[in-house]
Amino acid sequence: MTESKFTPRVFSGIKPSGGLTLGNYLGAIKRFVGMQGAGFETIYCVVDLHAITVWQDPAELKTATREVAAGYLASGIDPEKSILFNQSQVHEHAELGWIFNCVARVGWMNRMTQFKDKAGSNAENVSLGLYAYPSLMAADILLYHATHVPVGEDQKQHVELTRDIAAKFNHDFKVDFFPLTTPVIEGPAMRVMNLRDGTKKMSKSGESDMERINMTDDADTIAKKFKKAKTDPEPLPETLDGLKDRPEARNLVDIYSALNDITPEAVIAEYAGAGWGRFKPALADLAVEKLAPISTEMERLMNDPAEIDRILGRGAERACEIAAPILKETYDIVGLLRR
Ligand code: TRP
Repeated sequence: MTESKFTPRVFSGIKPSGGLTLGNYLGAIKRFVGMQGAGFETIYCVVDLHAITVWQDPAELKTATREVAAGYLASGIDPEKSILFNQSQVHEHAELGWIFNCVARVGWMNRMTQFKDKAGSNAENVSLGLYAYPSLMAADILLYHATHVPVGEDQKQHVELTRDIAAKFNHDFKVDFFPLTTPVIEGPAMRVMNLRDGTKKMSKSGESDMERINMTDDADTIAKKFKKAKTDPEPLPETLDGLKDRPEARNLVDIYSALNDITPEAVIAEYAGAGWGRFKPALADLAVEKLAPISTEMERLMNDPAEIDRILGRGAERACEIAAPILKETYDIVGLLRR
């Protein structure tokens, strides 16, 4: 099967659980913005049905959904150029997800490392939805026949599973209907780590707010967090190699490089031998310059929830125009009668 019979189409999603961090921005949203108008149709989703695989307070879920939408918009996702919507408004996701539950094998789910990490020793007690989550994710992607999915390294296995589901469906029903989607994995510089422990990913749920930059942080908070970020006593090295085994130092260099759209090598070339007293304020200034306009715009949008809801609703209508015929044909292939 070739992928060429499919329109080049990008799909990706962010879960509305907790707030957005610099990790979401550099690792995901900034790249999503870059793919707009670059020869792809782009579809970006707030995946609220994924969020509820773990219990969410209903009022907080609504706020978090709007916040992710505001984060996309404030960062430059243009709702005319891209389709931007929240997943639950397009019921076809859940329907195709069910069909894929019947295609995917239990053994495949058992191999998902993210589930093992999240469920830990509590695997008997997590929701069935958390276990089946990757098959809903496959439905998100394949409902649009998406050919490319920009995701972090931690989601690569789920996109491979999506390919397995597409291949098994095509094989079982003797069709060439679903594409084999290509994961577009972020470069290492885009993996933003915790400011207090450079071996852990920056996460929205970590215990201390000082370990992450939130996309809603104001200028003073951003500057303060970078100035207090953990480092080691050594100055910046002469070459990138010198950052090996210095995870906190490496992370700050990577953040600087990603924010400024230059390579980590170029950052080192500029700051070789500099102490943290020089580098950290420079990083803080750069971060404020790039992020403060986004957080200001997010705040403006969050004060107008009706406008966000209108944009998501319009996006859902456009998403549905692509999704409905694909689901309809899937039902037909499977042998489900429709009125
Ligand atoms: N599972 C992804 C995450 O946790 C979110 C997601 C859901 C997604 N559906 C998707 C990402 C489809 C890409 C494509 O980050």
